[in-house]
Amino acid sequence: MSETPFRNPGWAGNTGEFDLTEEQVRGEDFVGDRPAHGGHASGAGAMPYMLAEKNPDVALFEGEYQERFEKILTRYPTKQAALLPALGLAQEIRGYVSPDSMDRVAELLDLSPAYVRGVATFYTMYNKRPVGRHLVQVCTNISCNLNGADEVVEAFLRYTDTELGETSEDGHFTVIEAECLAACGFPTCVQINSRYFENVTPDQVPQICERLKSEGK
Ligand code: FES
Repeated sequence: MSETPFRNPGWAGNTGEFDLTEEQVRGEDFVGDRPAHGGHASGAGAMPYMLAEKNPDVALFEGEYQERFEKILTRYPTKQAALLPALGLAQEIRGYVSPDSMDRVAELLDLSPAYVRGVATFYTMYNKRPVGRHLVQVCTNISCNLNGADEVVEAFLRYTDTELGETSEDGHFTVIEAECLAACGFPTCVQINSRYFENVTPDQVPQICERLKSEGK
């Protein structure tokens, strides 16, 4: 718990005096030590959280991940339909979706590499290169922009001592700009991994970053 709760500590819909951790809201199975087999059935196709340390060179879909991959396939009428969760699983394993991962997924799903590239590069939630433990996406679209989003971006870059898209030396943060995050009523909106921080101002940035680091994820 932080000493001064934010008005919204990071969960869309929380607008009162809440200060819940991600674990308290989603359950520990979904956070950090999420079991390799995927935990809950509904988690098989869920977007990964970039909380654990990733190994970009580890083999894809082996052991428990092979079981999860096969489980994903059973949930869709065609292999092609399983493409999004398969890419999500690849990202969960390696931390990002490399060209090599895309080719492997294409092979396993009997799709052309070009088709998989087209899909993976269309969706911004697939990281096409490694990112820090905390991917900070600051909305700089119209509502947030009119309310100081550029200054919020600057504050994150200053705190993390990075340029846009660069990962901080300690591996904790990668800061990027995002298009509208659908929280236009609460500018500036910042999505960090799967959490939303709303009404963010530049002076809150150090406190947010310290809190994330202290959570150890
Ligand atoms: S403009 Fe920032 S959330 Fe919509």
